[in-house]
Amino acid sequence: MLRKPLMAGNWKMNNTVGEAVVLTQEISNNFERDWPDHVDVVVCPPFVDLKPAKTVLEFDRTKVAVGAQNVHWEPAGAYTGEISVAMLKEIGCEYCIVGHSERRTMFGETNEHVNRKVHALIEGGIAPIVCVGESLAVRDDGTAEEFVCAQVRAALAGIDAGAAKDVVVAYEPIWAIGTGRTATPEQAQAVCAAIRATLAELFGAELADTLRILYGGSMNVGNVDSLLAQPDIDGGLVGGASLKASSFIDLVKACL
Ligand code: 13P
Repeated sequence: MLRKPLMAGNWKMNNTVGEAVVLTQEISNNFERDWPDHVDVVVCPPFVDLKPAKTVLEFDRTKVAVGAQNVHWEPAGAYTGEISVAMLKEIGCEYCIVGHSERRTMFGETNEHVNRKVHALIEGGIAPIVCVGESLAVRDDGTAEEFVCAQVRAALAGIDAGAAKDVVVAYEPIWAIGTGRTATPEQAQAVCAAIRATLAELFGAELADTLRILYGGSMNVGNVDSLLAQPDIDGGLVGGASLKASSFIDLVKACL
């Protein structure tokens, strides 16, 4: 297999430090030592939970990475409420979600912001998980692939092939997030194949074949197998089902 699967839990705005430590400990306790040979796993808690979660995982020597849900592109300065790449790096973050649809729709994040964040993360040695996805209106228009591929191009503008090797793209149709309505495996595959074709245009087919494309949107133990069976889906970005250790562990197992 060309690509190692990646299972990522996006906790969104859930779990206080105390709760995060408990959930991380439960995940760690149920995590088998040899799984990292077959799957990369990352939890993405809120900023304040990153260090406590990392500490639990380091203490247990559990090979689950931590990732942030957002970052600012400037290295430092007067940006009240923001967090820099260096701050994430020092904690040991290996991944950072950027361009999640909730940030785009609720907090005004634009393609240009996403692009700046991707540049800053790559320069800082943190793998961006670039989220893309269409609304229901766009899907009903029949232009989902076009829309999503334009988001991919905008997010990765100015990144050259040499810098792109750790980029992850997450396809999250907005109408499937938190709704219990999953894209069918065929719908998800069609868009993920179009994303890979776009990555091939940008970086060449050889590199595009190694980059991971995740599906996100109501992924759960009932639909994960059929989604992962698709040739261009290399894992998941999971919201609701990542908030319980047992369901998250089930999704990790589906990647083995
Ligand atoms: P749900 O799995 O809760 O639908 O959330 C998906 C998501 O937005 C992950 O980033």
